[in-house]
Amino acid sequence: MKDATRLTRLGRAHGERGLVNAPVERASTILAPSAGELYNAPPGRPHYGRVGMATQSGLREALCDLQGGQHCALTSSGLQANALAVLSAVEAGGTVLAADCIYGPVRGFLLQTLKRFGVEVRFVSSRAGGDIEAQLDDSVQAILLESPGSLTMEIQDLEAIASIAREHGVTTIIDDTWSAGLTMKPLELGIDLAAQALTKYIGGHSDVMLGAVVAGSEQAAKRLADTERTLGMFASPDDAFLVLRGLRTLEMRMQKSGASGLQIADWLATRPEIGRIYHPARPDHEDHERYKRWFTGPAGLFSFELLVDDVPRAEHFMDQLKLFGIGYSWGGYESLIIHCDPQLRRSAGDGVHSGTLMRLAVGLEDPEDLIGDLERGLAAISVG
Ligand SMILES: Cc1ncc(COP(=O)(O)O)c(C=O)c1O
Repeated sequence: MKDATRLTRLGRAHGERGLVNAPVERASTILAPSAGELYNAPPGRPHYGRVGMATQSGLREALCDLQGGQHCALTSSGLQANALAVLSAVEAGGTVLAADCIYGPVRGFLLQTLKRFGVEVRFVSSRAGGDIEAQLDDSVQAILLESPGSLTMEIQDLEAIASIAREHGVTTIIDDTWSAGLTMKPLELGIDLAAQALTKYIGGHSDVMLGAVVAGSEQAAKRLADTERTLGMFASPDDAFLVLRGLRTLEMRMQKSGASGLQIADWLATRPEIGRIYHPARPDHEDHERYKRWFTGPAGLFSFELLVDDVPRAEHFMDQLKLFGIGYSWGGYESLIIHCDPQLRRSAGDGVHSGTLMRLAVGLEDPEDLIGDLERGLAAISVG
């Protein structure tokens, strides 16, 4: 079956009552049918609410199936998914190699929290490939990737890195939120752990925060499940329900916002006020060949240089827009814009750009209307 068909079937209700969707089951206590079963619940019967009921199981099962994983952990946010994936892969004395483009708060987790537990971090190029082998000393335990980087859109050589890491016994982790595990399948490329902010495309409606980590290999799955359990990770059934609902329409939403985003990127490329476009599905993107190899389509998230150097003018441009909301996040039905420079943190020399870096999250509106909105904004700032 194709993914679009599978998305309508995965993680549905299993009961005999004919419910189409996994119901919201709220529980902390689950009574044991007898004293003998208190410590010996049969496999598959939840013994306590924290392990999750039908709603969370449905979502876990669906995400594992979609990605070809062996275990899926749900977390209360995408940031927590990244943190959990890393924690499951490292121990004191180890080092994490991280692509320089990783999401800023994940960088904060590595540099502030993980360091306190004796794990070092070294940043490598956001476009790293086989050359990462030179960085692998005995202390390296995990490599953390994000492709495309969600501000500057670089793509690492995923297959080369996964294969080298495996030879060296190093765990690979990717934040695959841009592809939602749909348009790119990291576990099939040999990556061990795929962490995702379900908050974005799979949730899809800007009303829920949730994350997931899906493990490909048996060893990664075991460490993930152990770490998830001992940390007491929990996702609410109501949130899992909303994300499962979003999953049903994921493919058509991604197709629509991806196609509209590309149309808008192509239009922006014709404008004199705009410099470089950072969109991996455009042939002028430096990682376009990597994009074509592993991705079946774009998301609606991309960046571009607005050729103004002063923030007040960039803000004036944003303030003219009526359809693009000014706000963080992406993957929802409505379009958003941010300027990125205050968020850009780089250690490996990447991310140099002209003007002001802007990012669009293109939603489900008509692209012509969105172009009209941007045109109005550009008209309001006179660029030489
Ligand atoms: C690439 C990426 N990963 C993870 C996250 C974190 O997700 P959440 O907001 O659910 O913690 C974000 C949020 O913007 C993101 O852009």
